[in-house]
Amino acid sequence: MDRAQSIALLNQAVADELQAIHQYMYFHFHLDDQGFTPLASLFKRIAIMEMGHLEALAERILFLKGDVEMAPAGPVEKITEPEAVVVKAMAMEDDGMRTYNEAALACGANADAVSKQIFERLVADEENHFDQFEKQHENIKRFGLSYLALQSFQGAEPKGTAGSE
Ligand SMILES: [Fe+2]
Ligand SMILES: [Fe+2]
Repeated sequence: MDRAQSIALLNQAVADELQAIHQYMYFHFHLDDQGFTPLASLFKRIAIMEMGHLEALAERILFLKGDVEMAPAGPVEKITEPEAVVVKAMAMEDDGMRTYNEAALACGANADAVSKQIFERLVADEENHFDQFEKQHENIKRFGLSYLALQSFQGAEPKGTAGSE
């Protein structure tokens, strides 16, 4: 196994996760500010899951005697319109699925089955995130932003249940 190759792939994923965490929290603040509470909560929940991904990647990097490069892959895009937000998130998850699938294959070829397994688990999670954002997008397309507003209204009724889909 070429440890340096695995560490480089894992660090590239760390950069992508950091970018996603920053972008999703930016979406969270802005959606919350606009009153779209359930969608805002969805972004916070998924950002926290991306932190879990970051941790799994970091633990593996340290096990392989590398260090974690805590630099996001790119800057936060200042998108605040709800449909554009969801479209951007879908593109990010789609990109994540593709790069993690490639990373899993590369780790397999590099005889690093454990890193391969981590990437495969992340692919499954990103697929699930994509699915959740896609559902939101379909509903916005079908019902318009009133769908999000209604969600917020319903979510506001029983205190504490908002955001627990
Ligand atoms: Fe992730
Ligand atoms: Fe994700």
